[in-house]
Amino acid sequence: MTDKPSQERILVIDDELGVREGCRRVLEPAGYAVATASSGHEGLRLLREQPVDLVLLDVVMPDVRGIDLLGPIHELDPDIVCVIITGFATVELAVQAIKAGAYHFLSKPFSADLLLLAVQQGMERRRLSLETKRLHIMERETADLTRAKEELERLDKFKTTFMFTVAHELRAPLSAIQSFLVAMLKGYVPPDKRDEMLQRTVERTSELLELVDDLLKLSAAKNEQKQLRREVLSLADPLEKVFALQRVRADEKRIACRLEIRQRPRVEANADQMVQLWTNLISNAIKYTPVGGRVAVGLAEKDGWAVGTVQDTGIGISPDDQARIFDEFYRTPQAKEFELRGTGLGLPLVKRIIEAHGGTIEVESQLRQGSRFTFRLPVAT
Ligand SMILES: Nc1ncnc2c1ncn2[C@@H]1O[C@H](COP(=O)(O)OP(=O)(O)OP(=O)(O)O)[C@@H](O)[C@H]1O
Ligand SMILES: [Mg+2]
Repeated sequence: MTDKPSQERILVIDDELGVREGCRRVLEPAGYAVATASSGHEGLRLLREQPVDLVLLDVVMPDVRGIDLLGPIHELDPDIVCVIITGFATVELAVQAIKAGAYHFLSKPFSADLLLLAVQQGMERRRLSLETKRLHIMERETADLTRAKEELERLDKFKTTFMFTVAHELRAPLSAIQSFLVAMLKGYVPPDKRDEMLQRTVERTSELLELVDDLLKLSAAKNEQKQLRREVLSLADPLEKVFALQRVRADEKRIACRLEIRQRPRVEANADQMVQLWTNLISNAIKYTPVGGRVAVGLAEKDGWAVGTVQDTGIGISPDDQARIFDEFYRTPQAKEFELRGTGLGLPLVKRIIEAHGGTIEVESQLRQGSRFTFRLPVAT
């Protein structure tokens, strides 16, 4: 059994009892639900209580003119169809009412057929305008869905590329380790070379572990649902810790390291990630600076931001590459030539961490002159 379409509702607002009851006698047998009101105010009250599809509206009533009700009626529902009932003397007013948004008018006295025709046409008009609205909404929803679908496809493509690169990066050290082991197992390696080969196997294994660790950190930083524990801490604490550790490597390369802590801004942050942040920026500066160069690290507080800077006199980054070094796995040609090893996951991790903490990072650099990374994190309130 299918549902009967809900009954269409009509309100007759007219101060003449004869007109109200006459309309009811014609419209109810035709299947409409009819309510009546003998004044403009009563009509508005009924409309607020019970929505209708169509209003038959007397043009002149003792309390208010029909034309003045059009505004309030359409405010309740812009798609209510209003048909004006008018006497011969007030046709002029009816024309004005049509200009003001009424759909049609009927001149008294009118026949049952004319009334039915006007009402049927009015209802058709209402169905059409409701349908048009529904279509507009559907069009908008379709556009939203299309956009969401494109975004998903983009993400999916990114993930596929990412997985491909990860697999590719993992494959090189793994296959090197495998060939070392096979060579030794088959006895291809003379005894005096064994230690050296084992040493290389260990190095490749560390490389693999480093890559896997970086991937894990990156995925932790990317996973926003799994909020890492944050606390209010002074950004200078992890900096001092990291600086002391990195200094050893800098000394090996005879790189002069300077640390200038002007203020000790407090930030609400994950402590481990603040260590990762400083470690990656400072280790990059040392890694990409030739022997005898300089590295300067600074921390200050300005306008509600903790501002960290890491500056070096290293190989530099070309303007084109400055936009790409925050992409996963990207390493500049100069960096690859200068330092064989590197995953290209350090800066993407840095950027992720900073953005997750509501901050920003930027780089200024000139090839063969040096680079300066500046990041800002909001100071804890
Ligand atoms: N201080 C710097 N000077 C010059 N180039 C830099 C500097 N820091 C980063 N880069 C460039 O950005 C790239 C990405 O840096 P990132 O830290 O992500 O990777 P990486 O240092 O190559 O590898 P890893 O961090 O695993 O050792 C580097 O390969 C290098 O090309
Ligand atoms: Mg790095």
